[in-house]
Parts: sequence; C-alpha cells; structure tokens
Amino acid sequence: MDSIRIVGGNRLTGTIPVSGAKNAALPLMTASLLTGETLTLENMPALADVKLLGDILGNHGVDLTVGGKRSGDDPYRGKRFSLCARDIVDTTAPYELVSRMRASFWVLGPLVARMGEAKVSMPGGCAIGTRPVDLHLKGLEALGAEISTDGGYVLASAPKGLTGARISFPSVTVGATHNVLMAAVLARGETILDNAACEPEVGDLATCLNAMGAQISGIGTRTLRIEGVKELHGATHAVLPDRIETGTYAMAVAMTGGDVELAGARADLLQSALDILGDAGVEITPTNKGIRVARNGASIRPVNVETAPFPGFPTDLQAQLMALMCRAEGTSTIRETIFENRFMHVQELVRLGADISLDGDKATIRGVDTLKGAPVMATDLRASVSLVIAGLMAEGETVINRVYHLDRGFERIEEKLGRCGAKIERLTG
Ligand code: UD1
Repeated sequence: MDSIRIVGGNRLTGTIPVSGAKNAALPLMTASLLTGETLTLENMPALADVKLLGDILGNHGVDLTVGGKRSGDDPYRGKRFSLCARDIVDTTAPYELVSRMRASFWVLGPLVARMGEAKVSMPGGCAIGTRPVDLHLKGLEALGAEISTDGGYVLASAPKGLTGARISFPSVTVGATHNVLMAAVLARGETILDNAACEPEVGDLATCLNAMGAQISGIGTRTLRIEGVKELHGATHAVLPDRIETGTYAMAVAMTGGDVELAGARADLLQSALDILGDAGVEITPTNKGIRVARNGASIRPVNVETAPFPGFPTDLQAQLMALMCRAEGTSTIRETIFENRFMHVQELVRLGADISLDGDKATIRGVDTLKGAPVMATDLRASVSLVIAGLMAEGETVINRVYHLDRGFERIEEKLGRCGAKIERLTG
C-alpha cells in the first residue's frame, strides 16, 4: 500500500492548478444513465472514485470513452469523458461495487426513472457516521416508486413511470437531492423540491440536465422546480472547479506562510471558507486566472467555526481548517454539524503534537508553536489531507499511511505540492 512522506518546513510558492470537482463529476457521470445518447463531460478529474464509478456504470451497460492526450496538453488539464447508455443491460448495482463508493447509490433514481425498476445495494456503514439513505427513498416514493428492501438491497419499481410531486426535505442532503432530481426530470408533470441542497455541485448537475433537455428552474436556490419531460438527449458539459481542492490548497499555503496562485479556482464557490481564512490573517486576492493566497509573515489568528450546508462553511474543509488552527496563536473552536463522528483526524493530529480536545460535536484547538513529524494513518478522504497540511509544517518527517483515501479525491497531490516547493514524495509498496 502506498504512503506519502513529507519533510516539513518549506513555504509553498508558485501556482497550483485546480481540477474539476469530484463531487460534481460523480453525479454528472450518473446522469448519463438518463439518456440513450452520448453525454460528453469535459474537465474531468483523474481520480480513483471517478474510475470506480466508470466501472459501476459499465456494469449497467454504459460505454465510457476517455479522450486521449493532445500534443502540447497541460498535464493537469482535465480529461474528456464520453458516456453512452444506449442499452441498459442490468438494473442491479451489486454490493461489491456500491460498498466501495457511497455515491454509486445515486444510480437508483435515474435507473428507476428510465427503466421502471432498479435494485441497488445499500451503501453500508461509513467511516464518517451512519449516513442513512432514508431521505433518498422517501423522495423516490413520493414520485410514485414502490420501494422495498431485501437482503441488503433496495428494490425500486415504477413500471408505469414516475409522477411529479412536492417534496420537502426535512434536512439538507446533497445525495438525496441529486438522486431525486435525476428521477424527477423524467417524471410526468411537475416536481417541486423544497429545502433542496444548493451546493454548487447540485447546480452543476441541474445545469447539465437542462443541457440534456430537462426543465429545471430555481438552480442555486433551496427550491428546485422540475417540469418532467419524456426523454433526455446527449449534451456536452464542463465540470466546475473543485471548491474543496481549492480550499484545501488555500489552507496548505496558509499553513506554510506561502504565496500561491490557485489557477482555475472560483472564489464564489467557497466564499465562506475564504472569509474564515481572511479572519485568520490570510490574504486572498482575485487574479486573472483564479485566486492568490498568501500569508507573508503574519501569524495565524484563531477562529470559531461551525460547518453548515452551502453557502456555509463546508464539512469537507473542516479537517483541513483544524490542521491549520493547530498552529494558530490562540484557541479556536470548530463545531461539526453535518456528520457525527467526523473527527477521526483529531487523534492523528495529536500524534503530530497538536493540542485538541473533543466535546461531542465541538473540537477545541489550542495553537502550538511546533508540530513534530510522525507516522500517521489516513482514515478518510478529508481527514487524510488534513494530515498532509499538518505534515507540511511539522518538524522532520511525517509518513501518511493508507493514502488510497487521498487518491479518491485529490489528483496528483504530491506533484501539485512538490512543484510549489514542498518536500513530498509517494512511497510505493
Ligand atoms: C455529499 C458529499 C460529501 C459531503 C456531503 C455534505 C459527494 C460525493 N459527497 O455526501 O463530500 O461531505 O455531501 O456536504 O458529493 N442524511 C440522512 N438521510 C439521507 C441522506 C442524508 O439523514 O437519506 C444525513 C447524513 O447522514 C448527513 C446529512 O444528511 O448527516 C448530509 O448528508 P448528505 O448531504 O446526503 O451527504 P452525501 O450526499 O452523502
């Protein structure tokens, strides 16, 4: 199993290219199930999760072609994926595949909408809390699907098609919004989704669905209105930049007191996180190509933050902010309101010398003068990258084990950081 070795202490300077967003790429690929024509996705990130979803969709009959290299291409340029679900040959998503990536559960809505039936394994437990799927199922039931569970599988059936309905989510959920939205575009009549997630990735999916012939309004708000259509057609869509990757590198730069341009980043996708970095004493300025992040000599000021659905501070940046606050001058607090048990990084950060205490959903981080390198373990995607951030400023050597978590969501992280001066390498084995 690969690990990442970092020798801390170097400032990051230069340019880091931001890739297409993983959390948009996954539902966009899934949307290919809704049409027999080709969906072309540009700016696709090269990530393990994207590859795995390609395999899962292939099992349903989706042909996937990845555009080849062109001479003079920037190595960090996103890929072009063409997905064609002319014939859906299998409406079952088996446990072996779904258990490896939770987002593959989102095939349920499109499959039942197009094929009138689907059998999808429940995703099972997850390292960041119980993460139930009840709201996905309630939403699809409201559209007229008959839902039952058997042997760890969800069976959804709507042989006569789905019918539009008014659905109010009791709490904000990105995944159920994606799933029910993809089903509703092919339902008869109007669907209204109240208290829908308005994360930029939901907007990206809805924009792509409209390019495929769907009729969705209210994009970017908490209420989505969908006028069902008989069928969708092919389209071409470019994936939006990854706001979590952007925020992660911004925190890494801030940690090292560096000065880096994040090329391709869009500030409007993560304004709340950039505002918090501003409060922490980090300079954020727009550039022609993206955002410049700098902390030249100023100390890191402590902050008090709560995670929240968009446009609030994203839970997917909570671990990274915590790593940064380990070196703040003073005491910070971070409350995690989205996922229970999303503090696995705390014990690993403590191994590097951090002073963090936990009380339920609240972490109190007392800044320390030095972190010290140590072997640590990556436990999930965002937790692992928080260890990279800490390692960049820890004295001596930090070795992060189980980095397959990182490869799920961060494209060529060691290259991107290495080009900006970090001493970081991948140890294969
Ligand atoms: C997505 C993102 C993940 C991010 C999360 C919150 C992807 C691939 N993953 O995950 O990176 O951290 O949004 O922004 O895009 N819930 C229920 N019942 C349900 C569904 C969810 O109770 O049926 C709860 C969850 O347990 C959680 C909260 O709702 O506490 C939010 O979960 P949700 O927004 O659905 O997260 P995901 O879509 O799984």
